[in-house]
Amino acid sequence: MDLQNKKIVVTGGAGFLGSYVCKKLKEKGASNIFIPRSSEYDLRIKEICQEVVKDANIVIHLAAQIGGIGFINEHCGEVFYNNLVMGVELMEAARKAGVEKFVGIGTACEYPEVIPLPFKEVNIWKGSPEDVTAPYGWAKKMLIIQGNAYKKQYGFNAIHIIPVNLYGPKDNFKREFAHVIPALIRKVVEVRDSNKTTVEVWGSGTATREFLYIEDAAEGIVLATKNYNSTDPVNLGTGVETSIKEVTQLIIELSDYKGTIKWNPDKPDGQPRRQLDTSKAKTFGFEAKTDLRLGLRKTIEWYEQNKNTLERNK
Ligand SMILES: NC(=O)c1ccc[n+]([C@@H]2O[C@H](COP(=O)([O-])OP(=O)(O)OC[C@H]3O[C@@H](n4cnc5c(N)ncnc54)[C@H](OP(=O)(O)O)[C@@H]3O)[C@@H](O)[C@H]2O)c1
Repeated sequence: MDLQNKKIVVTGGAGFLGSYVCKKLKEKGASNIFIPRSSEYDLRIKEICQEVVKDANIVIHLAAQIGGIGFINEHCGEVFYNNLVMGVELMEAARKAGVEKFVGIGTACEYPEVIPLPFKEVNIWKGSPEDVTAPYGWAKKMLIIQGNAYKKQYGFNAIHIIPVNLYGPKDNFKREFAHVIPALIRKVVEVRDSNKTTVEVWGSGTATREFLYIEDAAEGIVLATKNYNSTDPVNLGTGVETSIKEVTQLIIELSDYKGTIKWNPDKPDGQPRRQLDTSKAKTFGFEAKTDLRLGLRKTIEWYEQNKNTLERNK
């Protein structure tokens, strides 16, 4: 699909991932991009969704209510309702408005808690997501069902992309919302700056995750928007499994912190292991370019330069 001369609606386009996706869309020739901000366009409301997709050719749906595991745990009802309703109403409005393509963004939290590694897209229905993140995972996963049903009944073109944990400059470092990497960077830098000898980290450190640098994720989403046209979900990641212990040690090294780690096993680990099979995304030309060390270095540099402003905003 050619992006020139298309009106592209990017929900959540001012968010962390959204800002990189919009930049990448422009680099690839898109000039007519509309970003509906939540203050003006609350996508939980059907009529607002209808207004937002009017005259659009492509809808890239990135808007979501998300945060780290602690946030999802505390706000599980809101997270379930808001994400489910936004997705359902937006895709329905897009179908009715004759949108040519709907790009839904899912999450690795959609995968069953325990399945063989690497996670293959065909196994996504073979079990329930991990308990704490299930409200988020199930709400997002319904976009796959909706996309399939709409393809069958209406011939609607909806795709569903499943990115792993994302990280990079401009990530959300606020305590309440931060995902694992920004939360760890913030903690390590704070204890370093206050000369403390120990940093406490949630969980046992044995859980594993896969981390995708934000610019790579944006590239993958734009490539899928252009070249992928199947309702079968598609993974977006690096294919590299990393334990929380390893990523913590790397952050400690790159932040030049000399203290030790104290693990807090009373806090949840979340899903025990996570690593995606990334072969399907290669069919539309995507391969992650940034390794974890380089991506972390850029993220830590950005945080060090911006932490004083961020601290004022908490
Ligand atoms: N970050 C990750 O590690 C990760 C991993 C896998 C998948 N994803 C998915 O990637 C997408 C983007 O995530 P992100 O990290 O970029 O999140 P983010 O920075 O929090 O951005 C989400 C955006 O959603 C918008 N939004 C929230 N509620 C809304 C509402 N009721 N109406 C309209 N807009 C609303 C917000 O827009 P305003 O700025 O206008 O308020 C916000 O900028 C999400 O779908 C998420 O599930 C993220």
